Amino acid sequence: MSRFFQAEVTGNVLLSRTHNILKITPLQPHTMPYPGQFYLLRVSGTLDPLLRRPLSILRWDEDGLEFLIRLKGRGTLLLRNMKPGERIDLLGPLGNGYPEPVDGETPILVAGGVGIASVYPLIERFRPEVRLFYGAVSAGDLYLVDEIRGLTRNLHVSTDDGSMGFRGNAVERLTAYLDGSSVPSPVVYACGPEGMTKSLLGMLRRRGIPGHVSLEERMACGVGACLGCVVETVRGYRRVCKEGPVFDAREIAV
Ligand SMILES: Cc1cc2nc3c(=O)[nH]c(=O)nc-3n(C[C@H](O)[C@H](O)[C@H](O)COP(=O)(O)OP(=O)(O)OC[C@H]3O[C@@H](n4cnc5c(N)ncnc54)[C@H](O)[C@@H]3O)c2cc1C
Ligand code: FES
Repeated sequence: MSRFFQAEVTGNVLLSRTHNILKITPLQPHTMPYPGQFYLLRVSGTLDPLLRRPLSILRWDEDGLEFLIRLKGRGTLLLRNMKPGERIDLLGPLGNGYPEPVDGETPILVAGGVGIASVYPLIERFRPEVRLFYGAVSAGDLYLVDEIRGLTRNLHVSTDDGSMGFRGNAVERLTAYLDGSSVPSPVVYACGPEGMTKSLLGMLRRRGIPGHVSLEERMACGVGACLGCVVETVRGYRRVCKEGPVFDAREIAV
């Protein structure tokens, strides 16, 4: 089945001045995603801008797909301004998402900022054992908190300015949690900004904790052909769109 398909915008919820949730219904046959995969969205009906924008799948069912979008530049502004009834072209689902859980492990999710979009589908998958550490700059930058609380009571919020939950970042909160409790066979699943990812990888290495981390790189083709999205790993260069975006934490060069 082709991964290109056209869809209709069925909803666009403006959550704040910077974030929206775009809801679409495919108009053509399409493959169901799994957590951690992403789509490339064409952001206008013309060839300008030319490159499609990569977005993680947030939620999906038989009727449609949802994306959580943080306003960054022209492409995400065009997606923010889309209206119900408009048509949109997508390519996906793409990439390698998060692996299936293994019996006996304790899944620990770590999300920074809009990285919650990638990690969100795992809350449902890993219930009831899941623990989620979700950090943002300030309380107003945390999204879907009520929905998350409906899925798990094991949510640990942190904000850099202390306006909600722990004062500090999600990795500092997780470190304090691991120091204060005994967690059997923890395995971390994470997505967040580069700084968070780096400090998380360092902490996991020091403690010998395994993990699966989603990386972001600028993309062009999205299907492994242009080599525009390579990252250095301990096994050489790997394409984020093809071998990733989720990588084994031990493989990522820091
Ligand atoms: C696998 C993956 C999943 C992502 N999931 C989400 C998500 O769920 N929600 C969300 O808000 N954002 C997500 N992003 C980041 C998002 O793709 C960029 O913020 C977006 O492409 C910016 O486009 P722009 O035109 O608004 O910004 P501009 O800065 O004008 O973009 C210019 C070019 O740079 C690329 N670019 C800019 N920033 C990034 C970035 N951080 N990562 C990759 N390409 C970038 C754009 O795609 C475009 O080609 C994801 C990125 C990747 C790689
Ligand atoms: S975007 Fe072309 S190889 Fe990844």
